[in-house]
Amino acid sequence: MRFAGKILYILSKPIPEELKVELKDIVENLNNTILVKGVGKPELGAKIVSYNVVNNNTIVFNVVSGRRVKIHDAALRARRKLAEILGKKYRIGIRNIILEDVTIELEGEHKVSLKIPYVKNIEVKEGKTLIYLSTLEESDVKKPIIDRLLKLLYEKEQRLLWGGKAEHWYLIKQSGVKGKEQMFKEDPNKILEEIGWIKRFSIGQWIYTPPFTYLLNMVKNLFLEEVVKPLGFEEAVFPKMYPLDLGLRTGHLRGTINSMLFAALPISYDIAEFEELIDYMYVTNKAPPEEVGKYVKPPSYFLCFAQCEPFYQFFSKEIMSEKSLPIKWFDHAGPSFRWEAGGIYGVERVIEFHRIEVVWLGLPEQVIEIRNKLLDRYEHFMDKVLDLEWRWAWVTPWYLEQEGAVVEIKGIEINKPGTIDFEVWLPYKGPREDRKSWLEVGNISIHGTKFTEPFKIKHSKNKILWTGCSGFGVERWAIAFLAQHGFNPSQWPEKVRNYVKKNPMPKPVEAVTYPTTDKGRKKLEEILQYFSRQS
Ligand code: SER
Ligand code: ZN
Repeated sequence: MRFAGKILYILSKPIPEELKVELKDIVENLNNTILVKGVGKPELGAKIVSYNVVNNNTIVFNVVSGRRVKIHDAALRARRKLAEILGKKYRIGIRNIILEDVTIELEGEHKVSLKIPYVKNIEVKEGKTLIYLSTLEESDVKKPIIDRLLKLLYEKEQRLLWGGKAEHWYLIKQSGVKGKEQMFKEDPNKILEEIGWIKRFSIGQWIYTPPFTYLLNMVKNLFLEEVVKPLGFEEAVFPKMYPLDLGLRTGHLRGTINSMLFAALPISYDIAEFEELIDYMYVTNKAPPEEVGKYVKPPSYFLCFAQCEPFYQFFSKEIMSEKSLPIKWFDHAGPSFRWEAGGIYGVERVIEFHRIEVVWLGLPEQVIEIRNKLLDRYEHFMDKVLDLEWRWAWVTPWYLEQEGAVVEIKGIEINKPGTIDFEVWLPYKGPREDRKSWLEVGNISIHGTKFTEPFKIKHSKNKILWTGCSGFGVERWAIAFLAQHGFNPSQWPEKVRNYVKKNPMPKPVEAVTYPTTDKGRKKLEEILQYFSRQS
């Protein structure tokens, strides 16, 4: 990222001859001091390449600069020094600063919208992008919008430079390899559909019949009883439809808009206004989305995406005291939605899924301690309760990934903000050595001040507050469990078997036409036999 342009200093009085002579030294001094101060390499700083005086009262600097002292920073840095010299020696003030003909050069070919304020023109050629800005005055330069524009351009460039890089993934810990003789090898997604416990509803959505709901509740309840509740987390209920503004604050609208689902309000509460549409649907027996679309307002909500957003919203602008901390909640009041387009598969990768979202807020040391305690219980859950082959990895933090930020992670820094992914091996997919044979079932993160800052969550003694969250993907844990242990409860680990003994499995649907295939009906009989032996 390089800048070039003119900085004009409009002075309060005509420029005396003496100052014109002295300007050479002033420029040299600026070039050697404040314009390159603290930048590391000089090319990352700014340089006045030539200067002149116009209209009797205006000093013009032609400047080139790098990303560490962007041209508007250079203008403000030089202003301070100039004001000092002009004031002391010549009794002249600086009335205004104007930035003219500013161009920003980015490596790579980028799309930049002309709708963005201050962007006058764009030129893309020979692997570079030139952005021409309109004239900026001192008052513009001080607005955050300029900083945000430059940050945006810088991130575009970085994304292109780093974009091709593999996703960050560092192994933290893994379970032992289970020496099971005949490890289950079938695809539980297929079995569940065959035996009629789940039925396709729409793209990436399923209806779960009572037996599969039972299995989901089984892993969910075991998780709540063995991990969440013993650590003192309490249940809250979060909304599942969020105003757009919330997505602006968390960064989701910038980073993941392509995988969010939106909700819109009707154009009116008066049904009379829908009469034409209603009549049309009545007669044609069709509901074309384009027609229906004319009767709804533009979307003002997005559907639950990360599931912890309302937590930050709740504490926004609240002042917490020592005694109110830490806060430990969880929510499983409804589904989350992700438009996955390509990768939809079974109940493993869906558009509508269920999750227990565990959230906490406290002083940094509290937040780290809670995360560590959760990790201990997670390990217990994976080893002793579900008896799985699992692994944990240090990955790109979800909250940065989901805001589309450019991040480079050099290694594991366990007590710094970051995300750990939990993965479970799916034997049906292939050997353990193949990355594709592992399913991400959940994650756990410390966010640092990522949310406490923009949501202005404060401490009464001005101490820094951090947050953390952990997502438990219910369908995925259930699939991972079934993929390793199969459908015969007598082969399941003890705690899960006990759950089955205490809680009878509900009856499946057995209709003339359902489950659809003979194979499915036979398989269902076999599985029902296994379960009946348990009770
Ligand atoms: N909110 C976190 C995520 O979206 C954990 O569920 O990944
Ligand atoms: Zn979260």
